[in-house]
Amino acid sequence: MISKDIQENLKNASWIRRMFVEGAKMKEEFGDDKVYDFSLGNPYFEPPKSVIDKLKEVVNSDEPGAHRYMDNSGFKDVRQKVANSVNKDIVDPIGFNHVLMTVGAAGGINVILRTILDFGQEVVIIAPYFAEYIFYIKNHNGVPVIVKSDESTFEPNLDLFESKITDKTRAVIINSPNNPTGVIYSEAILKDLAEIIARKEAQYGHNIYVLSDEPYKALVYDGIKVPNIHNIFKNSMIINSYSKSLGLAGERIGYIAVNSKIENSELLMSGLAFANRTLGFVNAPALWQKVTADSIDETVDISEYQKRRDVLIEHLEKIGFEMVKPNGAFYLFPKAMMEDDVAFVMEAKKHNLLLVPGSGFGYPGYFRISYCVDMAMIERSLHAFTALAESFKK
Ligand SMILES: Cc1ncc(COP(=O)(O)O)c(C=O)c1O
Repeated sequence: MISKDIQENLKNASWIRRMFVEGAKMKEEFGDDKVYDFSLGNPYFEPPKSVIDKLKEVVNSDEPGAHRYMDNSGFKDVRQKVANSVNKDIVDPIGFNHVLMTVGAAGGINVILRTILDFGQEVVIIAPYFAEYIFYIKNHNGVPVIVKSDESTFEPNLDLFESKITDKTRAVIINSPNNPTGVIYSEAILKDLAEIIARKEAQYGHNIYVLSDEPYKALVYDGIKVPNIHNIFKNSMIINSYSKSLGLAGERIGYIAVNSKIENSELLMSGLAFANRTLGFVNAPALWQKVTADSIDETVDISEYQKRRDVLIEHLEKIGFEMVKPNGAFYLFPKAMMEDDVAFVMEAKKHNLLLVPGSGFGYPGYFRISYCVDMAMIERSLHAFTALAESFKK
């Protein structure tokens, strides 16, 4: 028998998973080119050639010990390269000793939560949120506390945020560029959050960690710059990965970069390395640490994602959809044309459109379109979106 907790979770399979299964069935029935699947956030583009070349080089090298266990934090030279990259726009630089290589951003978040949470402590997340956060927090006996963002901007509502910080708050997770909205938080709103957190830290007499989940940091459009979190917060940790920026989601490689000003840095880093080991990751994949170390600041072709965003936004707005125009990631989060977003997504399915309801991200009334897909599919899908919109005008 498996645990009651997991049994319960399996009953509520994620919406993304459900749409994936649904999509496979529909493709069999209607044919691949007649189904418009916008449900998955799986990077569409292949990794840059330089990454594949480096992979071949590392595989062919005869460096002794390259495939053995290592320090649980990762290779020192790789961590230094990550620190150099994070330091590009930072006031107080970090060193290799502030970096821990992880099994993707997902592994990084779990390592941090395992390290910082005591039973029943609270972690604030901002809706709409990446649904896995709820499971990650519960994995480590924490309690998720949800703060809704404002509908007009999809940035956190400050009054609500302040009201949800309690004596039990251990951490706040922020995710910008955001999944599912694509929105990038402004420097002004981040500074407001920092001020609230500093005030609450003083009131309760303990620190509140800011976990900045940044796997989409490199996927930004329109010349917008994502602020460096370490310049704004004190007790902050950046979690990043190469899943989206280099199209390496299946290879499971990322890192945690801790603020040099964070309290008890040495103890924290020892705790993170311990958690990385005892959660069973042991260390991030050796091969991929070496490969990505020289490609940290490269990306897949961002302009291709931007083209997809622009074609979709132009068409969707023309046919009556409302949305906040996002500057990052590869998602749109328009308002559903009826109150019940799940029913709306079911309507969309009648037009062979696979979308994910906002309810799956803790934000009903909206739906997510993931545009990391083939451009030809987007073009083929436009008439289906038009037919869907038309069906609500009758
Ligand atoms: C917001 C967010 N955080 C974390 C992850 C996990 O990324 P990784 O593949 O680096 O574990 C994802 C993946 O889709 C994501 O959207």
